[in-house]
Parts: sequence; C-alpha cells; structure tokens
Amino acid sequence: MRTIDWVDGAVELVDQTRLPDECVMLRLTTVDELIEAIGRLAVRGAPALGVAGALGVVLAHGDRDAVARLRAARPTAVNLAWGVDRAAAHLPEGPDAVLAAALRVRDDDIAACLAMGERGADLLETLGSPGGLASREDAGSREGLTSREGAGSREGVGGRAGGLRVMTVCNTGGLAAVERGTALGVVQTLHERGRLAEVLALETRPLLQGARLTTWELARMGAPHRLVTDSAGPYLLARGAADAVLIGADRIAANGDTANKIGSYALALGAARAGVPFIVVAPETTIDPATPSGEHIEIEDRGADEIVTVRGVRLAPEGTRALNPAFDVTPHDLITAIVTDQRVIRP
Ligand code: MRU
Repeated sequence: MRTIDWVDGAVELVDQTRLPDECVMLRLTTVDELIEAIGRLAVRGAPALGVAGALGVVLAHGDRDAVARLRAARPTAVNLAWGVDRAAAHLPEGPDAVLAAALRVRDDDIAACLAMGERGADLLETLGSPGGLASREDAGSREGLTSREGAGSREGVGGRAGGLRVMTVCNTGGLAAVERGTALGVVQTLHERGRLAEVLALETRPLLQGARLTTWELARMGAPHRLVTDSAGPYLLARGAADAVLIGADRIAANGDTANKIGSYALALGAARAGVPFIVVAPETTIDPATPSGEHIEIEDRGADEIVTVRGVRLAPEGTRALNPAFDVTPHDLITAIVTDQRVIRP
C-alpha cells in the first residue's frame, strides 16, 4: 500500500485521522485541500510531508503564493519545506518538469526507507557483540553497537535466539512515509529477518499516533507488540524491558540535535540512564545543515484543544489552559547513532 501518491491528476493519500477504524483514501485536487489535510494530520510524518509538499507544488499550477502557504503548513519537519523547494525549483521549466521532480521525491523516499531498514537492522544485529558484526564500510557498523553500560551483553541480547526488543514512540512506519517507514522500517526488516522479539509502542499523547497507527501497522506486519503509556517508557527501560530505542526525526540540526515527537527527549534520558542504545532513523533529507543546533528548531504548538479533549470527548474542565508542544529536541549527546539512507552517524 502507498500512503501517498499521484493518481490521475490528484494527490491521493490515506486519511490517517480515520485509522484504525477505517482505511479511507482522500483525493485532493487543490493546494488548500492539501494544506487542510496536513493541518489536521490526515497526512503526517516527516517523509510523507516531504512527498506531500512536492506533489502539492504540482497542484499549485504555478501559483507562488499557494506554494509559500503549503511550505509553511507545518513548521518543524524540514522535509515539508524541502519537498516543496525541490519541486518548485522546476517551476520555470513547466508543469511536466515539476511533476517529474515531485515523483522523484516519492521514488527517492521509497528507496531511502528500504536502505534505512537494511542499515538499521544491520546495526541492531551487532547489539551486545563486542566489536560488532562488520557489515558495511561506515564506522558505526564496523564498531558495532554496544550500550553505555553494556546492557546489551548484560541481558545477553546479541546472542538471544528470541531476537531484539525495541521501544518506539509516535508512528514512523509506512504511514509516515510512502511505502515503508524509517524507525519502524528497521523494525520491519528485523521482523523479516526473524530477529524481532517484540516492539513496545508508546501511545503518543495527545493524538495517539502510537496507539492508533503504529499498532495498526505492526498488526498488519504480524510483528509482536505491546502498547504502553508514554510515561511508562523510561521506567520500562530502567527495568530492562527493551534492548534499544528506535525513533524517527522531524529535523536533525547540524550538530545532531534531533527534533521528534514529544516524549522522545524523556525516552532519551531514560535510555541514557539505563544504558540502552538510543537510535534515530531518518533520511538524509531530514538533516538540516542550515540549523546549527536544536535551540534553533521551531517547535509546533498545536493548541489546547488536542489536550483537553480526546477524539471529541472533553477530559479537563471547560476553560482549562494547556501547553501542547508537538515535538521536543533530544540533544546529540543522548543519541547513540543516527541511521540514514547513506550512513551511520555517531553524534
Ligand atoms: O505530528 P506527527 O505525527 O507528524 O509527528 C511525526 C513524528 O514525530 C515522527 O516521528 C517523524 O516525523 C518521523 S516519521 C518517519
């Protein structure tokens, strides 16, 4: 299944607000329809936003104002602006060139996710084995992956016939990309290799991408998983419940500081304390060399309504004020490795 695609002159995408109850495709023919879909997270996740941005430029039919509004539809994931810019660069050449560029963004994402899945699974398979299983030319794989306090070997992870236990937050699967995801793409590859024991999926308040989307994808994969509350994450890491944390990214600053779904920073702190490897999986297009460090990343504030209500049901008393940062920033020194489609980076 493709989460987003160009079909007969329109952008077609899975309406993720309707999952897991029903899998419904939306057909969008105007930039304003696409901006509205992005705003309510019908399409979401950094790589999918990049493709949406690029295909949206085709819908703009040369309207520069519409292109600018699309580029600003969400601020944190750099892929949206990147995808828009990549297609918009071809506007002077005419609509066929814009469409061809947008379709390249789509196809590059499919290839990048496959590459990340392989590279990330290779890296994870070195867990707990001193020296690691040298599989690629990059230093990360050569050195292998051992946790700070040797939790991997303590738990006997590397040699476990039962495979690896992975904790993740938000949704980084095919729904966040085109066909296959980033962090969840690595999980999928591990599962296909018979090396996955279990995924602990954080529910991801307030919009529950973990509870609604990640569980849906893992069930479709046939991958063993359990859902846990966000606040249980660091505690479960301290109890040795996972061998690695795998997350995606919305923007990686030049120094490796990484913006991702709110809750990622708490997991990184918990992982560091527990000596569990904390791995970011993202395409090269999520690295933003123009942003020197995390403090320069704009964090989207999605307003109080998403917190004081859940799917239309009021939780907090009328008039309750709330803070709703949709993302946080994990400092690079808490990140064990960043796996991209081209390399393993040790921030
Ligand atoms: O608000 P969302 O659902 O768009 O947030 C998505 C995330 O934070 C993902 O982890 C990130 O975009 C990477 S998706 C492969």
